Amino acid sequence: MLVRLLYASRAAGPLAPPVVESILDQSRRNNPRLGISGMLCYFDDTFIQVLEGGRDAVCDLFNALVRDDRHKAVRILTFEEIGERRFGGWTMGAVNMAKVNPSLLLKYSEKPLLNPFAASGRATLALLDDLVAAALVVSQGS
Ligand SMILES: Cc1cc2nc3c(=O)[nH]c(=O)nc-3n(C[C@H](O)[C@H](O)[C@H](O)COP(=O)(O)O)c2cc1C
Repeated sequence: MLVRLLYASRAAGPLAPPVVESILDQSRRNNPRLGISGMLCYFDDTFIQVLEGGRDAVCDLFNALVRDDRHKAVRILTFEEIGERRFGGWTMGAVNMAKVNPSLLLKYSEKPLLNPFAASGRATLALLDDLVAAALVVSQGS
């Protein structure tokens, strides 16, 4: 049985490229073996990640990464059983939201700012879908 989990968190320290790179390296190394695919968005001090895969695999990974001290204030935005993957093309795709056209952000928000802690999970997931459709996701290890 497949599930999709979407969460947001705050980076514990400055979101320097090496921090993001090390997270993506770990994802690339571990996720294929776990049958997990997904996408990691980052901007300012915020992460948004969607994880798809078997329920046990997704829950076990989530329980582990909640304790990762590179981020804090981890908030589940949506969790659902799914019939098929939407982010199956990546062991972990990556999007630097600072490079995304503000008009895309305006589609789902009152202002061209992304605040997943205030927005509905459904709106944030719809935005991630649009990023995939706009081919703004950088492939990492798939
Ligand atoms: C925002 C964020 C997202 C992460 N995503 C993943 C992931 O998709 N897969 C993964 O294996 N580890 C991920 N990690 C890292 C895990 O918390 C943990 O450090 C890692 O799985 C340990 O792997 P290792 O034992 O191979 O070093 C993430 C960490 C953070 C802070």
